Formats: sequence, C-alpha cells, structure tokens
Amino acid sequence: MDDLKQKYLDAIAGAADEAALETLRVQAVGKKGEISLKMRELGKMTPEERQVMGPALNALKDQINDALALKKAALGDAALNERLKTEWLDITLPSRPRRQGSIHPVSQVTEEVTAIFADMGFAVAEGPQVEDDWHNFDALNIPPEHPARQEHDTFYMHRAAGDNRPPHVLRTHTSPVQIRAMQDQGAPIRVIAPGRVYRCDYDQTHTPMFHQIEGLAIDRDISMANLKWVLEEFFTAFFGTSVKTRFRASHFPFTEPSAEVDIQCSWQDGTVKVGEGNDWLEVLGSGMVHPNVLRSAGVDPDEWQGFAFGIGIDRLAMLKYGIPDLRAFFDSDLRWLRHYGFAALDMPTLHGGLSR
Ligand code: DAH
Repeated sequence: MDDLKQKYLDAIAGAADEAALETLRVQAVGKKGEISLKMRELGKMTPEERQVMGPALNALKDQINDALALKKAALGDAALNERLKTEWLDITLPSRPRRQGSIHPVSQVTEEVTAIFADMGFAVAEGPQVEDDWHNFDALNIPPEHPARQEHDTFYMHRAAGDNRPPHVLRTHTSPVQIRAMQDQGAPIRVIAPGRVYRCDYDQTHTPMFHQIEGLAIDRDISMANLKWVLEEFFTAFFGTSVKTRFRASHFPFTEPSAEVDIQCSWQDGTVKVGEGNDWLEVLGSGMVHPNVLRSAGVDPDEWQGFAFGIGIDRLAMLKYGIPDLRAFFDSDLRWLRHYGFAALDMPTLHGGLSR
C-alpha cells in the first residue's frame, strides 16, 4: 500500500496541468480506479483482515484526495501568477489622444446672434417645429388661398382617414413663434426666436431644413427707425465692422410696411467680403407687424405696434466664415466639421469677442 501511495503522490506532484491531475484522479480514486477496486475486495476478506485494510484504504484515499486538492490549488496559483506577469498594465502612461468634437457653425452663429440681441434686451422664445397651419399661416395674415402658402413649399403632416385634427405642417419659418410669444406674454414684448424651419427645396443655396432667427419688438411707439437702428447695431457687432445697410420696399403678408434688408459687400475672386465695396447682399425680411397679426395673437393694434424681422442663420454663417456651399452644413462630413467647427469652450460673448 505504501508503494501505491508513493506512486500516486509522486505522479500528483509532477502533474503539469489540471487535465493531467484529473486523469490521475480517475486512475486512483475514480469509480474504477485502483484504490476503489481494492476497496471492493474488502468484501472477500476475513473480518480481521478487513479491520486492518479498511481504515488503511480509507486513509490512503483521503491522502490522495488531499494531495489532488492541494496540487489543483497550486496549479491555479501558478497559472494566475503567470497571467499577472504577462498582463500587467502601466497605469501611469498618458492616455491616447482622442479627437474632440466641435461646435457646428450653425450652433456657433446662433449663440453669437443670441448674445448680441440679448445685450439689446431681447429674450429667447421658442415654438414647436411641427406647427398647426393656423400659427404658421392664418394668424400671420396668410389666408388659405394666399399664394404665399404655395411659395413656401410646405411639408404637410400625414393624416389618417378620419383623423380630423387641424392640418399640421413642418413650420416654414420662425414667424409663428411671434404669435405664440404674444399669446403667452402679451405686450410689451421683445423676443428673438432661433430655430429650424423646413421647405421642400434643394440646391446649392437651399436645403429642406434650415435655420432662421425671428425678431419681434412690440411697444406703444416703436417705429421703422428703431428697426433700422437695431439691425445696424446687430450687423456691426456680428461682422465686427461697421456695415452699411439698404432697406428695400418689399411685401410680406405679416408686415406693413415691409422691407428687405441688404448689407454692403464686395466680391473678390468669387469670395464675398462684408462691409466694403459697392455690391449688396439680401440677408433678411422685416417690417412693421401687421395689425391683423397683432389681433390674432390677442394684442390690441390700436394700443400697440412694433417691428419684426426674420434672418437666415445659415446664410449668416456662410457669409461670416466664408463657407461656400449650404448643403455641406448638413452632410455630417467629419472633415468639414473639423475644418469649420468651433472649440467647445469658444462660447461667444460680447466682451470675450464673438469669434476666432
Ligand atoms: N418669415 C419670412 C420668411 O421666412 C421672413 C420674415 C420677413 C420674417 C419679414 C419677418 C418679417 O418677421 O417681418 O421668408
């Protein structure tokens, strides 16, 4: 029995891995293992022999099981130590540089414009992008048969048969926010409303989604002169240089009188420079808010009057930062975004400077 014991203890000590150990376990103490077979022979022995051999075999079985367990733990520790040696990590190394995202020019310009108008006492108002056709058209003095409805290339929301809610549209301009702001706050009021607008149109200067900023100032004696001053202040601050403006008589259903505003610019080698030269570039629509518009928003036109304007934000960004194609704004091309984007901490303020 001592030979048997020594044979297995040596083999266990020399086992190279867990698989080898398992083979040894089966050979020694498995159902048909050497020691198990010997235990079966106990039945054939005399009671005296059995009294000696029984405990001895049991002790041997225990010793071998103990040796197997010890070796198994030792093999596990060794494997772990081996892994720890190869898988170590130097956590003091600097991390890999990762590219940071950038602020889209539309977001940057929206912040710039908002900062300038905030400085002149305009608060920010918002409205839904899915708008009902009353706010988008009727309330702005654009009745159903008015040609402006067709001109706007409106996206209409789908209605299932039997759905009798009023027609909804993707707002074609930010002007409905005028109505919502006046309904909420009444007069006097001074707000701007930046946001997305939608029209079914696509070429180098048009995308089906683009951005506008609406302006609205209503009080007892606001005039076109105030409008002109506010816009000139705005352009000077925005472009960082004094900019001549030209007001051209125009027509919008929601203003009377109405004016389109051009800014002075020059064209050199196909690039436009604002604030110099003999050319003019149209940048916004404006006018004195039509009495019908005030009335539909619950403001008494005999008591209140004021101006409104609508600027294309994307157009402003193209002009200020020399971006030639509007469509690229919405392509999500990383090369474009890295080139024209702004650092996240480059927040525009009037005192800190509006741009790079
Ligand atoms: N809503 C007009 C458009 O999208 C722009 C506009 C013109 C807005 C005159 C105004 C305004 O507030 O007074 O083309």
